[in-house]
Amino acid sequence: MTVLFASHTARRAVTAALAVTAAAVAAFSVSGADAAQPLTVATTKQSAPSIPYSDVAALGKLIFNDPALSASGRMSCASCHSPAHAYGPPNGLAAQFGGPDLRSQGTRAVPTLAYVLNRTPVWTHVQAASIYERLTDADSPPSGGFAWDGRFNSLHDQALFPLFNANEMANRDAGEVVAKLERAPYAARFKQVFGETIFVSKDTALRQAMAAVERYELEDPGFRPYTSKFDAYLDGRAQLTANEMRGKKLFDDPNSGNCASCHIDQPGANGAHPLFTDFQFEALGVPRNPELRANRDPKYYDEGLCGPIRTDVANNRLYCGLFKTPTLRNVATRQVFFHNGRFHTLRDALRFYVERDTNPAKWYAKDARGQVVKFDDLPPELRANIDTVDEPLTRKAGERPAWNARDIDDVIAFLKTLNDGYLPAPANPVTPPPATLTKR
Ligand code: HEC
Ligand code: HEC
Repeated sequence: MTVLFASHTARRAVTAALAVTAAAVAAFSVSGADAAQPLTVATTKQSAPSIPYSDVAALGKLIFNDPALSASGRMSCASCHSPAHAYGPPNGLAAQFGGPDLRSQGTRAVPTLAYVLNRTPVWTHVQAASIYERLTDADSPPSGGFAWDGRFNSLHDQALFPLFNANEMANRDAGEVVAKLERAPYAARFKQVFGETIFVSKDTALRQAMAAVERYELEDPGFRPYTSKFDAYLDGRAQLTANEMRGKKLFDDPNSGNCASCHIDQPGANGAHPLFTDFQFEALGVPRNPELRANRDPKYYDEGLCGPIRTDVANNRLYCGLFKTPTLRNVATRQVFFHNGRFHTLRDALRFYVERDTNPAKWYAKDARGQVVKFDDLPPELRANIDTVDEPLTRKAGERPAWNARDIDDVIAFLKTLNDGYLPAPANPVTPPPATLTKR
């Protein structure tokens, strides 16, 4: 069997189970399971008492926004994860440019940080005990972890990556970052929170700085405002228009878009509003993107779970080409879509889903002999991993696409209801019910 993770019926079962156990998933989330060790959790009382915003988090916010922490002096976390763009990219670049002179291009599109950070489950994948089990219990796709390839299990580990990545903030070592922290306008505050001697050990100072970024990402309600029209609709405070409702039906229908089977839109058992992702990994066969410089090398492929960035599961060839399902909250505000940033309008992203198989020539380049190379962003021997069993990815060339132009208009209208800012952000932010451990 070629596509092990994507059996049609199994996915729906998995999804149903997930929707029901959203709370349980949250309970196993990265933040809960692997949070930084407790620090001085002194709470400032300026926000609602029920939501303590710690000094550590406040410091983390300063670090997150500080361009002086990069080699260029001009790039902070917020440069790529723009607070004004749902913590996603502020522009339509397939991948951002970083490094000491801001001229080195990354290889992946910037994902949004909104909503997912405190509800991302830890990386898990089924370790089959026998070949029989692997063949019969083959429908548990890997899930969880941070980044498109799930390679980080905590936000403090993740935050180290951009600080040192040559295409991003490009610091050489811990000493360089800590020297910048010592010169920062908030250095005194850093000492207040972590102790006068904090800068003595470079490694400890760096670790605490990353823990502070993590606290900020987990505590600041700005990362999860729940102010979209769809949230208001779920709470009975708004109605969807006829077009939005029709779009939702197309999005949900297992025989049509089938989108909700991966981009879950049902509230969890505890009433938690949905995040439009199941945090699972899939290979969709997004076309190769010539905008990425790395792709000038015809032998270069971004194979997601099996590298080149992630290395620990690289020898599982069934994982090649799989990327994590992103949230669709605020997706209509993005100018770049999919892991390689191949599409720049939501309409094209949706057209790709419904026409990938019915009209491959529209999406994939031709080889020297004029043949359309379907799934051209994976080497030929790995193309079997690409999902061809979940609707709407099952059709044959020449068949009618699952959606016509009007259907796509309506789904876009529905997806726009996921943009934040429909309701005013509450003065005393109310987070959804806290995740409780539900028995399984
Ligand atoms: C040059 C642009 C850039 C900068 C600067 C940057 N990031 Fe990112 N961020 C990305 C990209 C691209 C990814 C996806 C990486 C991947 O899949 O390998 C990402 C992924 C993430 C994720 C994972 C999100 C998820 O849902 O899995 C988090 C969290 C994150 N970044 C936080 C940060 C923090 C904190 C900083 C500052 C220390 C930072 N980023 C700086 C581009 C950037
Ligand atoms: C089998 C699971 C699955 C199904 C079904 C599915 N998606 Fe996705 N979706 C994914 C994955 C995985 C990605 C990321 C793939 C990549 O970048 O290579 C993604 C990415 C996207 C993106 C890009 C978001 C971004 O931030 O870059 C959009 C938009 C999207 N899906 C919409 C839809 C719509 C609309 C449907 C229904 C027609 C749908 N998806 C069906 C798994 C799925």
